[in-house]
Amino acid sequence: MLSLLENREPEVRQITVMFCDLVGSTELSERLDPEDLRALIDAYRKVCGAAVNRYEGQVANYAGDGLMAFFGWPRAHEDDAVRAVHAALAILSEVTNVPGAVKLTSRVGICSGRVVVGQTGGPGGWMEAVGETPNIAARLQTLAAPNTLLISESTQRLASAAFEFQDLGFRELKGVTKPLRVYSVLSAKHTATRFEAAHASSLTPLVGRSTELNLLLDHWQKTKEGGGQVVLLSGIPGVGKSRLIHELKSNIQKEPFLLNYQCSPYHSQSALFPVIEQMELAAQLNSGDSDVDQFAKLKGYLSGLTKNPAESAALIARLLSISIEDQSGLSALTPQQIKNRTVDKLLEIILSFSAQRSTLCIFEDVHWIDPSTLELLELVISRIDRTPIMLVVSYRPEFRHAWPTHPNVTLHSLTRLSRSEVTKMIKELLREGSLSQQVFDQIIEKADGVPLFIEELTTSIISTPRQNRQKSDTDQTTPFEATKVPETLHDALMERLDRVAHGRKLAQIAAVIGRDSPMIF
Ligand SMILES: Nc1ncnc2c1ncn2[C@@H]1O[C@H](COP(=O)(O)OP(=O)(O)OP(=O)(O)O)[C@@H](O)[C@H]1O
Ligand SMILES: [Mg+2]
Repeated sequence: MLSLLENREPEVRQITVMFCDLVGSTELSERLDPEDLRALIDAYRKVCGAAVNRYEGQVANYAGDGLMAFFGWPRAHEDDAVRAVHAALAILSEVTNVPGAVKLTSRVGICSGRVVVGQTGGPGGWMEAVGETPNIAARLQTLAAPNTLLISESTQRLASAAFEFQDLGFRELKGVTKPLRVYSVLSAKHTATRFEAAHASSLTPLVGRSTELNLLLDHWQKTKEGGGQVVLLSGIPGVGKSRLIHELKSNIQKEPFLLNYQCSPYHSQSALFPVIEQMELAAQLNSGDSDVDQFAKLKGYLSGLTKNPAESAALIARLLSISIEDQSGLSALTPQQIKNRTVDKLLEIILSFSAQRSTLCIFEDVHWIDPSTLELLELVISRIDRTPIMLVVSYRPEFRHAWPTHPNVTLHSLTRLSRSEVTKMIKELLREGSLSQQVFDQIIEKADGVPLFIEELTTSIISTPRQNRQKSDTDQTTPFEATKVPETLHDALMERLDRVAHGRKLAQIAAVIGRDSPMIF
């Protein structure tokens, strides 16, 4: 992280700022010996700092008993607001487990917005963000009840796909002139895929992709006839990988047994995370269930799927952290042996599903896969050529693999939409509304055939009230509007720039020269 801070001038960026504080520290200071209090505050900050680091945020400084953290600087991620909220939920839950004479409680406030961010006085100086955003985050933190997380509307918009919220309406915040809409975060959403979480309500009508969809349906037909198929679906972020998979599922709806393994950017080092999530959802395990109930549900889910049910249930229970009395002798095995046996069992379970019914097995976003799930995936690929399993694996182009080219393995790179498809998609998004031809053309150019960009650019323009739009002589929307980067795309673009050395500088220069400039760099 430190090298990222070298030679960085303060810069204007959209970031997400988090403030967290220890509840009741004044009373604690009266009750506790100063040394014990100091130890407690240190332990509290350590928990907070660890959660911020886990989600790749940056602790900016320790304010009072708590801390201020940035997500989006010095390194941006496409989902900084989501990361900040995950980190805050982890803090709320983990501080209550800090051992000591008193049970600690925290409160957190988060806000996203444009700031000037940097280190005062150069390297080694304080990290600071200047603008309204940190003030609002700090005020939200003071407004939050113990054990709760309050976020601004800007953060809610950016993180709405990933969490359940309660809208608390408009609140007056000290030092902020206008009342602001405040949300309380209740929990992370549990859905089978990222796509489902983000698109619970509505989808833009499908444009194009009939060739790709027919190809997938063709593979499904072959699968049903008993020849396992592997489709590797690669494409840049937002190009429509998940949407195509969604269309495949809708087309064959009730036919297959469906197994969804969703990889996560936050758990790429967490062994078999996608499998754990899939099992918990499929076996309907609730966090409120007792271990006994969870184990009973798990045994029900696995029944008839493996040759040695007792050992399978014990291994999978261990994987899902369900405490049971171990009667299957697993404690005599080394961790490596347990992992190997678990992966073998998981393969056996997947193959057993297909013995009952043709199975659609999806591994989404494997650019974030953990090594153990990758091992499982490779085993599945090597074993399905004569089983009715269609395996669809989606990933972004940065994922490298050396999987064999085999007749039942098809690699498909999803390309950008054509100009006429982009035009159709913008019209679908506008519904009854209209835009000037100039703005229309600007969206086409800026979106570059990527459906996600088309959606975000178009909706950000149509959701801007007309009176706030730039006006031209004809009262038409001017091209200027379409050149602004919507806040929902900002973090994703910054992530890409941060990944390339000198990317920001280059982008600033290119922004002035235009995209068709000669290659002078
Ligand atoms: N052909 C299409 N017609 C209409 N909308 C589309 C089309 N393809 C994608 N979309 C929409 O564009 C958005 C981005 O698509 P999607 O989530 O499938 O991208 P992705 O390639 O899976 O991206 P990521 O790498 O981030 O997972 C979604 O809202 C999706 O519904
Ligand atoms: Mg996707």
